[in-house]
Amino acid sequence: MRIAVVGSGYVGLVAAACFAEIGHSVISIDNDRDKIAMLQRGESPIHEEFLPELLARHRGGKLTFSSDLPAAVKNCDAVFIAVGTPSTEHGDADLSYVEQVSREVASAIDGYKIVVEKSTVPVFTSNWIRRVMLLDGANPDHFDVASNPEFLREGTAVGDFLYPDRIVVGADTERCAALLRKIYEPLTSGEYYQQKNIIPNTTGASIPSRIIVTSTKSAELIKHASNAFLATKISFINAVANICEAVGADIKEVCEGIGSDARIGRRFLNPGIGYGGSCFPKDLKAFSSVARETGYDFRLLQEVMTINADQRARFLRKVRSALWTLKGKKLAVLGLAFKGGTDDIRESPAIEIVKDLLKEGCEIQAFDPAAAERARSVLPTHGINYHASEYEAADHADALLILTDWPEFARLDLARLKTAMAYPIVIDGRNLYDPALMAKAGFIYSSVGRADVQTPVVRANGKAEKSATAMQGKTE
Ligand code: UGA
Repeated sequence: MRIAVVGSGYVGLVAAACFAEIGHSVISIDNDRDKIAMLQRGESPIHEEFLPELLARHRGGKLTFSSDLPAAVKNCDAVFIAVGTPSTEHGDADLSYVEQVSREVASAIDGYKIVVEKSTVPVFTSNWIRRVMLLDGANPDHFDVASNPEFLREGTAVGDFLYPDRIVVGADTERCAALLRKIYEPLTSGEYYQQKNIIPNTTGASIPSRIIVTSTKSAELIKHASNAFLATKISFINAVANICEAVGADIKEVCEGIGSDARIGRRFLNPGIGYGGSCFPKDLKAFSSVARETGYDFRLLQEVMTINADQRARFLRKVRSALWTLKGKKLAVLGLAFKGGTDDIRESPAIEIVKDLLKEGCEIQAFDPAAAERARSVLPTHGINYHASEYEAADHADALLILTDWPEFARLDLARLKTAMAYPIVIDGRNLYDPALMAKAGFIYSSVGRADVQTPVVRANGKAEKSATAMQGKTE
């Protein structure tokens, strides 16, 4: 089938490349001409596993790039809208880009096509798209509007697209549902998985993929409710982690125990410094606002957001407890991205924590495998240096903070790290290490939802034992 994807951000670009991968002829549209030129040159504007391979495989063949939306609409069977829906100052989704694209599509439409919203949007958006298209003169027989939310996680978006837990399609006519079924048929019939040289299944999802066809309103709600539920799970476990700290229990053991109940599940039960990213914070506010408009006060979501914000404040208190005073302290920071595997720093808890530490007068020595460039553009220039490795960042540091769950941060050479640092203090906001192992390696180690540990003899970089022990006074 011939597909136009409008918007070449994280969602649009991944969708376009994956549609090409499963055999469709795809044109990716963006009004940012620099981005289109970059994609035409074969460069990927985002850091996403397997995306460079897909771009190399399909660019110029099944996948082309353009800024000419009317021409793309005329030459396709389905238009996917994947433009941004940022938060307004009141927390609801700003749908002006969606509206603008809908109007442009309406003016170009010249035969039956489906217009599919893929951006995360509130319930009723497909009704609004239909309405503005009709007002702009589109023939009602020439289009249907559908909702096809994505459940892609940054960093594993290509795998999530090709090996989804489910594909949700919201369509209000059988003709439209049939077209969407056809688009996803290579995944739902299993045909794609029979081919050679396909992208490997890293998500563990069972194949062939399952498709769920609903009304457009249900599909729109499924997206918001899924993200809200996952964020609730994270805030729930963060709250339980705080109780673990108070009573001396171990959150890892507690997660194992509750996550083994198939009704609860182990995934998304990792405590830490709170969720971030371009989706959960925005979608929770938007869903809360949708609920309010329907006359329902979704108080649970407010609490989820409050617990999330508190989690960052708690982490800062841990840093203070470990170091006593913060002014002038040299802190190694591992991780700036909102999670591992991505260069995205939008709503990153790590960035917020670094900003707070800089305000306190700390000197930050930061390392992130992919997000440093982006971080540089939003963080103050004074008081922070960016380094090329974990060990460089740790050089002469008073403490090391782990703020992002990059897999490589869980495999550090602890002896080398300890030698590099001025004091062997690690405050781990992502629970990447076993506390007993850290104590054995000679670290004073603090994490989330587990007891702090320290080795009986603290010896860092040949420095006096006493000072390091004294510095973490409040943690004892
Ligand atoms: C999230 C959803 O997981 C996707 O299904 C959805 O498609 C996407 O939003 C979206 O709406 O576009 P994403 O924001 O890429 O995906 O990242 P997640 O892997 O969900 O992580 C979100 C945040 O929660 C990160 O800051 C992560 O560190 C944190 N998190 C995640 C935890 O603190 N604990 C966990 O157990 C899991």
